[in-house]
Amino acid sequence: MFETSRDGFANYVGVSTDEIALTRNVSDGINIVASGFDWNPGDEVIITDEEHPSGSLPFLNLSERYGVQVKLLRFQTNTNEILKDLESLITDKTKLVFLSHVSTVDGARLPAKAVGEFLKARNIPFMLDGAHAIGQFPVSIKDLSCDFYAGCGHKWLLCQQGTGFLYVAKNWLTRLKTSWVGWGMTDQYDLDSLSYTSLETAQRFEFGTRYWATHASAVKALEFHNAIGAENIYERSHDLASKLKARLLDIPGITIKTPLHKAESTGIVAFSTAGLKHPEPGNWLWNEHRILTAHNPDTKSMRIAAAFYLLETEIHMLADKLSELAS
Ligand SMILES: Cc1ncc(COP(=O)(O)O)c(C=O)c1O
Repeated sequence: MFETSRDGFANYVGVSTDEIALTRNVSDGINIVASGFDWNPGDEVIITDEEHPSGSLPFLNLSERYGVQVKLLRFQTNTNEILKDLESLITDKTKLVFLSHVSTVDGARLPAKAVGEFLKARNIPFMLDGAHAIGQFPVSIKDLSCDFYAGCGHKWLLCQQGTGFLYVAKNWLTRLKTSWVGWGMTDQYDLDSLSYTSLETAQRFEFGTRYWATHASAVKALEFHNAIGAENIYERSHDLASKLKARLLDIPGITIKTPLHKAESTGIVAFSTAGLKHPEPGNWLWNEHRILTAHNPDTKSMRIAAAFYLLETEIHMLADKLSELAS
């Protein structure tokens, strides 16, 4: 089942099985890549200003340990703007560009393919964090011109926790250094001669006993997902998100933060609740109506996952309750 899940993830994102290392989560994948380069003081990494802590901490750690300089790129969906900003941040010391495919803050979608082509033309290694992309919309990694891509099963693919993958492009498999080693990642190992060689596949980035049984959930979840079809799931989720946005636009006190345009957005809908008089709309929705939202009282914002399995009536129920609160 573990190996079948490797094939499943590889097929799902359109890469070779040899290019997939199975991980516990997205954070694992990012750490494997961040620790796989030989860093020197002054080397530069570009990340966006909307990274999840798991997307920024591995690089801040490099900064602390090796004097790597982390530069922030403004996350934006406009291709010309983001390429212009990227150009201004790139120097001959840029060793890696790491960007979220989908912003964890508001679900905005990066023009990843254009960025990948731009970086490939400049020979700059590129990694994408696909935590909120995988399972939301079809992802064909080879089309994105990236060198590394970290994904997980436990979010939009509906697998169990502990199911992640890291894509390492073939031409990086033996160039990216292994930082954690152990049984399972060697091709040859001999203690008498104190020597080993690593597997030539991405399995060289795995070591020790893994969550074998957990990965059975990935096999089943991928089968379920594929039976419905990634494109259908994307369309359904987009439809639900669009309906929610249309309703939110009419509610006084609410300001939508997520882009409205399809190519720039996903099923995540984020909005400010700052204009609502109620101090705790998230708690009110849960306590009074059993609607669970990701509400941040500090930033007065709410983030909804309009996942494909929700009912339209549930989307309208949420909008109705927010309207009630606004009035
Ligand atoms: C964009 C992004 N990257 C990384 C992570 C961390 O993912 P994991 O828990 O799979 O390591 C998250 C979690 O929400 C996320 O939203």
